[in-house]
This record gives sequence, C-alpha cells and structure tokens, in this order.
Amino acid sequence: MRITMIGTGYVGLVSGTCFSDFGHEVICVDKDATKIARLEAGIMPIYEPGLDALVESNVRAGRLSFTTDLAPAVAAADVVFIAVGTPSRRGDGHADLSYVFAATREIAAAISGPTVVVTKSTVPVGTGDEVERIIREVAPNARAWAVSNPEFLREGAAIEDFKRPDRIVVGTDDEIARAMMGEVYRPLSLSQAPLLFTGRRTSELIKYAANAFLATKIGFINEMADLCEMVGADVKDVSRGIGLDNRIGSKFLHAGPGYGGSCFPKDTLALLKTAEDFQSPVRIVEAVVQANDARKRAMGRKVIKAMGGDARGATITLLGLTFKPNTDDMRDAPSLAIVQALQDAGAHVRAYDPEGMDQARALLPDVEFAADPYAAAEGADALVIATEWDAFRALDLQRIAMLLARPLLVDLRNIYPAAEVERAGLAYHGVGRPQHEPAAEVEMVPMLRGAA
Ligand code: UDX
Repeated sequence: MRITMIGTGYVGLVSGTCFSDFGHEVICVDKDATKIARLEAGIMPIYEPGLDALVESNVRAGRLSFTTDLAPAVAAADVVFIAVGTPSRRGDGHADLSYVFAATREIAAAISGPTVVVTKSTVPVGTGDEVERIIREVAPNARAWAVSNPEFLREGAAIEDFKRPDRIVVGTDDEIARAMMGEVYRPLSLSQAPLLFTGRRTSELIKYAANAFLATKIGFINEMADLCEMVGADVKDVSRGIGLDNRIGSKFLHAGPGYGGSCFPKDTLALLKTAEDFQSPVRIVEAVVQANDARKRAMGRKVIKAMGGDARGATITLLGLTFKPNTDDMRDAPSLAIVQALQDAGAHVRAYDPEGMDQARALLPDVEFAADPYAAAEGADALVIATEWDAFRALDLQRIAMLLARPLLVDLRNIYPAAEVERAGLAYHGVGRPQHEPAAEVEMVPMLRGAA
C-alpha cells in the first residue's frame, strides 16, 4: 500500500514509521521545513524510545521518506492519513479543527486515483462528515472516502502500542474503504489484533470514550487515595484488591498527582463540549475533570503539609517534571501546578528530569535545574518524586538522606516502600498510604483438584 501521512507530530511520525516497518511505502508530510530536514538527517523532533532506529532502518530500506510537498505525496497515495494537531481552542475548550480542515482541503485538491482519507487526529463526533463534505466540495468527481481511525498510542510506549494494539478501530460504512483499511492493517490482523469496523461517528466517539474512561479510573483511584489517607488504609493494596477482579482490571489504577499529557486533559474537555452541544450531560466526566485540576494544585499543599506547614525560604527539589516517564513532554504535567503552588508558598524550587528539562526551562523560568538527582538533593529541605522515571527507582537513599538539609521524601508516585525509605533515615510521605502499616500479600489459593 502507498500511504501518505500528513503531520509528523507524535502520532503521525510513529504511525507512519510503523506502517513503513510493516512493508508499506510511506511518505510523511509536514509544513515545517526545518523539521523535515532534521528528520531526513535522522534527528527526531520528539523523544520516543526506539523511534530513531526504526526511522533510520525504514529510510535506509527505501520505504519511508519525508517531504514538505503535500500534493505529489497525496496524488501517489492509496491512503492518506490526517495526523495534524487538534489542540484545545483557547477560551472554550472545543477541539480546534482548523488544521484538520485545512489539511483536508489541500488533500482534496491533490487527490488523483481512488483514495481513502483517514482521520487519525483525535476529532469530535461529526468531524468525518465535514471532512467528507469538504472533499466533495473541492473535488466533486474524486473517488475518495472519509474514514475515522483513532489512535490509542501511549507516549513512551507508542511503538509497542502500535505494533501490538489491543484493538484497531475503523469507522466507515463503505465497503471499498473498508477493504482498503483491511489491507493497511493486514500485518496486524494477521497477528490477531482485533480489527473493529464501526460507523464513522461511533469510531470518533470510541476514542473520546476510551480516554474519558481511563481518566475516570485514575480520578477514582486518586479519590480513594485521599480517603485511604484519612482512614489509614493503603491505596496500593486497594488497587490490587479491586484490580484483580477481571471486571475492573488492574491497569490505570495507580494513584498519583493527577493525569496530564497531551490527551486526557484535552480529550476529556472536548468530550464535555460535545456533550454540552448535544445537551446530553456527562456528569461523571465533568467531575473527573474538576477533581483532576484540583488535585494537581493540592499536591503542592501536600508537600508543604509534609514539611510541617511552612515552605517559606525552603528549597524543595522535584525529581521528574514530565507528565509521565519516557517522554520529554511537559504538556499539562502535574509538576507545573506543583511548582507554582510551592513558589506561591515562598519556596525555592530545584528540579531534575532525565529528558524533560529543555522543555521545562521555557515553562518554568524560576526553577533551578540540576545535573542529576544527587546534585538536585544537595542542601534541599524536601525531595519530591513527581514522575516515576526508572532512574529514580534505585536511588541511593542513604546518600540522599545525607545530602538533604532535612531528610524528607514525598513520593507522589508511590514507587518506594515506606519502610525502605525510613530505614535509610528519611521521613516518607506517599500518596494514599499510611506511614507504618505492612502491605497485604495476595494469597494464592491452590485449586482443588477432583472431588473432596
Ligand atoms: C493516553 C492514552 O493512554 C492513549 O491510549 C491515548 O491515545 C493518548 O493518551 P498518554 O497520554 O501518552 O496516553 O499516557 P498514559 O500512559 O495514558 O498516561 C496519562 C496520564 O495518566 C499520565 O499523567 C500518567 O501519569 C497518568 N496515570 C496513568 C496515572 O496517574 N495513573 C495511572 O494508573 C495511569
């Protein structure tokens, strides 16, 4: 298949590269000439584990190329993916579709043979109808079909998610488009990934419903964490205890400082707007959004409380700034609200992040950046783990205890057992965990074989 990917952001670049790795011929298009030149030179615009090597091998094999020239790339394609940004529109939270529609117009003007135009960007319900309408308006005689095919890639694990998806969702009622999308995803359906064909609007909604549901799981366990702190229970055990029930599932039940990133905050807001437009309230999602916003700020107060209630003049070190590990993405990262709260309380904030510091520098001008976790800890009054990078899982805690001016670890990702930290001479504050209670063990009850 000849595939053209419009947009070399996160989704476009990962998807285009993975499609080429499956043997398709892929051209990635972007208006940003510098980005394209850098990609051609093998320089990635984002940090994603394994992406540079995959790009390089597919470029070398002649299956993957980059260009700023949209028209010839579209004319040559069987399938064109739109993977441009859909940021939250300033002021009203609606998804800004101007890039999607502008791309659609350019694509429509360039289509030559039968072409499937696929929206991969996360777009509100009904966007595919408008994409179809624009194509018909610009190119009334074109044989083209507008299809929805949302992505479910997690940053930091995007290649793995693309190659081993839980499912692929394709929204179209057209038989030809369906057959062509079947071809595009054949390498994955051969390896048993369920390919779910639905109506276009249904497919568009599935994306929002999936992200809102996952955000709800996180919001739920975060509230349970608060309750655990009040009643003296351990949220990690609550997560295990409920997650082992297959109907609930154990994933996305890690309590923490609230969700961030490029998807959950934006997509939950966009879903609220759609619900409002169609006068069909989604009160649960509304509550999740509010609780998550409040939680990020509350985490700053939690740190100050752990310090005895006063942070004026103190130096507080944050380990981890990105919204999650294995990315350099700072979008809607809880650390932003935490830093703000700490600075508002009169603290000096120091930070270290393995990949996010370049992006963070622009967003957090008053933060002092350190070269490594130990330099960051030196002389500080508290150490806060804000992102669960693997590099923070095996810190020399005794060394940290010696370096800190006050031995306090606030672990907002619950990566350390309290006892281990306390043995190293540090006071420990996790999220939703009592200070001194042994963790419950899961008892494996042996199956009874045969009659008693
Ligand atoms: C998410 C979806 O998982 C993906 O399917 C979608 O297409 C894009 O949005 P991503 O934003 O990359 O992916 O990260 P994800 O791993 O889902 O984490 C999102 C946020 O939730 C992070 O801030 C993370 O720290 C937080 N989170 C996640 C929790 O606080 N607890 C959890 O149990 C899981």
